[in-house]
Parts: sequence; structure tokens; C-alpha cells
Amino acid sequence: MMEKKEIIYNGESVKVFGTGSPDHVLVCFTDNITAFNKIKRAVIADKGKLNAAISTMIFNLLEKGGIKTHFIRQVSATEQLCRRVEDIPIEVIVRNVVAGSMAARLGLEEGLRPSSTIYDLCYKNDDLCDPVINDYHAIALGIVTREELDVIYGMTERINAILLPLFRSVGIDLVDFKIEFGRLPGGEIILADEINPDSARFWDAETGEKYDKDRFRRDMGKVGDAYRTIYGKLVSLCHPDGIPEGYPSAELLSDGWTRNIQDND
Ligand code: C5P
Repeated sequence: MMEKKEIIYNGESVKVFGTGSPDHVLVCFTDNITAFNKIKRAVIADKGKLNAAISTMIFNLLEKGGIKTHFIRQVSATEQLCRRVEDIPIEVIVRNVVAGSMAARLGLEEGLRPSSTIYDLCYKNDDLCDPVINDYHAIALGIVTREELDVIYGMTERINAILLPLFRSVGIDLVDFKIEFGRLPGGEIILADEINPDSARFWDAETGEKYDKDRFRRDMGKVGDAYRTIYGKLVSLCHPDGIPEGYPSAELLSDGWTRNIQDND
């Protein structure tokens, strides 16, 4: 068991702890879910385990595709050992299909496919509800340099180029996702944070069924089942070496596991 020291980030769905090593942190996924700047909240049984496993498998796939990430290994069903980075307070949102806030902001229909991928930058600030900014804001406010932003956009494009066909191959449309980056002590930029149905939209490519946090935001029910579907798709992509060591993959997908889930989602 990895030692948990001081709390570095006390989020609702993710908490980050020091480990005693200056180079490493412990990222812990919880069953809590929040939306609309934490006004709406609930507990989804097993979401922490599902999101940890989903994020682990996605980061493994990205590493295999040549993307350097903060992920080192999963150390328990809900915990990852990761490299400690200096957070860059920017969220990069990749949009392959119009949905969510972009549809609302621009009066567009959800499901519209833009002729090219759209990238949004948001300034990470809870008090301001993470406002959308552009390159000029990010550089002028000293958040990143032009050179760093070029690296971030390059990595983001490669991440999308890896994930989009992978999910398509298992019948899932990767509609949009949010990623974050950090700096290693030498200044190198790597992918940080997490990627899972809390931070991405996954639609069934055939039916359009949603398998992500929108089920919670929009009171659609079966939130846990949706996360379990994405977990199952990734297991089918990653098996056998993508499953975190000692992780009860069969148990997560079995009827027994499903029966154990409380009816709160
Ligand atoms: O809110 P919006 O529709 O712009 O979100 C686009 C994508 O980014 C969604 O997949 C959403 O879950 C994710 N996102 C996030 N964290 C935020 C804002 C958006 O994970 N603070």
C-alpha cells in the first residue's frame, strides 16, 4: 500500500495526495459525482473503481502511442501512482462533435459534426466557473508561453488521433473530452489529470446512446451502467495487458458485480 501524506488537491471525484517522495503523487478516485459547479451532487457506487480503471487503460494506450503522461501505475482499485507535475491551469477541450456548452453557447444542434476538430481553452478557476479563453489570454496572462502552447496543441491533436479510431473500433463515438497538462521539474510538458466518462462524452456510434456524465447532468439514470459500458469496451481493447495488475476485471463486468450495485444511479 502506497503511503498517503499531505493532501495536494481535494476535489470531489479525485483527490491527490503526496507520497513522501518529491517526484510522486497518489491520485485517488472517489464515487462522488458533481455537476453545475458542484450544485448537483450524488454518489455513484463503484464509480471510483471504474474511472480509475478507465483512466489507467486510456493512459496506457496513449503511452503506447508515444504520448508522455504522468501515469506510472495503478496501485489499488481506486488509486494511481503518478509523477508529480506543476499544474498548468488550463483545460483543453477537444470537440469532434458539437455537444454540451458549445451547442448552447452557439445555438447549434447537438450531434453536428464540424468540418474540422475544434479546440477550446478554459482557464481553470472554480470561482469563475472555468471561463473559455483563447491563446492570447493564456500567453498574455503568463499561464503558458507560445512555445508551450504549441507543444500542448501538438500533443492534443495526437491524443485525439489515437483515441478517436480506438473508440470507433468498439462502436463508440468520442464526441468531446477535456485534458490537462503539467510541467516536469525540467519544464517538459506531459499529459496529467484523467480521461474517463466524467471528463469526456462517449456516444454509441449506432444509436447515439450516451455513456458519460451527461446521464447524471440530465437526470437520464443508469449512470453507473454507462461507465461500466465504457470500462467493458476498453477491456475488450486492452486485454490482456491493459488491465491493471490484480484488478478484478471479471468481477467488475459480471452479473454478481452488477447485482451488488445500489440502486442510487
Ligand atoms: O461543458 P462542455 O460541454 O463544454 O464540456 C465539454 C467536455 O469537456 C465534456 O466531455 C465535459 O465532460 C468536459 N469538461 C470537463 N471539465 C470541465 C469542463 C468540461 O471534464 N470543467
